[in-house]
Amino acid sequence: MKIIAYGIRDDEQPFVKDWATQHPDVEVTSVTALLDEQSIQQAKGYDGVVAFQQIQYPDAALQTMSDFGIKYLSLRNVGVDNLNPAKVKELGIKVTNVPVYSPEAIAEFTVTQLMNLLRRTKEYNAKAANQDFRWAPQISKELNQQTVGVIGTGHIGQSAIKIFQGFGAKVIAYDKFHNPDVEAQGLYVDTLDEIYDQATVISLHIPLFPETEHMLNAAAFQKMNDGVFIVNTARGPLIDEQALIDALDSGKVAGAALDVLEEETRLFNQDFSGKTIDYPVFQNLTARQNVLVSPHTAFFTDVAVKNMVNGGLDNNLSLIQTGTADNLVTFN
Ligand code: COI
Repeated sequence: MKIIAYGIRDDEQPFVKDWATQHPDVEVTSVTALLDEQSIQQAKGYDGVVAFQQIQYPDAALQTMSDFGIKYLSLRNVGVDNLNPAKVKELGIKVTNVPVYSPEAIAEFTVTQLMNLLRRTKEYNAKAANQDFRWAPQISKELNQQTVGVIGTGHIGQSAIKIFQGFGAKVIAYDKFHNPDVEAQGLYVDTLDEIYDQATVISLHIPLFPETEHMLNAAAFQKMNDGVFIVNTARGPLIDEQALIDALDSGKVAGAALDVLEEETRLFNQDFSGKTIDYPVFQNLTARQNVLVSPHTAFFTDVAVKNMVNGGLDNNLSLIQTGTADNLVTFN
């Protein structure tokens, strides 16, 4: 059995090696290149492909993969929004993801960034860098006083809820699909409008679908409480960035922590030191003292990376051996 794994970073390499040692009957080849029209040529003769990237998986690469007779693609992450569902279905490729590699990693980072916003650490750090150690005027807010509206109650949303509650915050939640534990606690409201109406903090934990794109738009911001805080560790396009900028300008939004951006693949996980960045929205947001932009790092922990590598390889092996796997993704 032969598996080729694309986009393997240095921090993933030891986990790939360990997995390969534990599976001597499987030949694992790791390549640093992302999966694209050129790199897929290396997959000829393999039984399965493992991949992880934030940019789009090109249709042409999927086509070549299928032409080589490879029907199994295992992603090492959870999101599948960079795969063309129509092409996957047309080619009959079986796709797996790793839905639960460490929800806690993302949830903990979500709360970290919310705390940074509420405690205004960006402003204090900037002042301290200039030897200004005065308290005022950056008086802060307490999480235990907030009503946090959690949108999306999958694994990450549920983990975030527990941490918010640990800080003493009131949590309300919205999801089309109700989780029994969240339901039992009576946290669900029936509509997003109720979240907008009641929440002083909104935390996004839902996938990107055509129907969730720009769900936080001008109309949604209009319905929110004045001075609301927004945290997005899910997907950039959930927020209309221009509408967010307008809401920050008007004071409707008091602060935002964004681990994801609409056009993040132009920048994130790349070194732009000394280079000019041509992304005016990014510059606008990062220049603000009440906006925290981080480069999609919420997932990036030792536990998560190990589970992503093992999960991707386990799923791919299961597909090769049995034609199916626990984490098969259904495309509608
Ligand atoms: C995911 O697992 O889908 C993530 O958001 C991680 C990311 C770096 C693609």
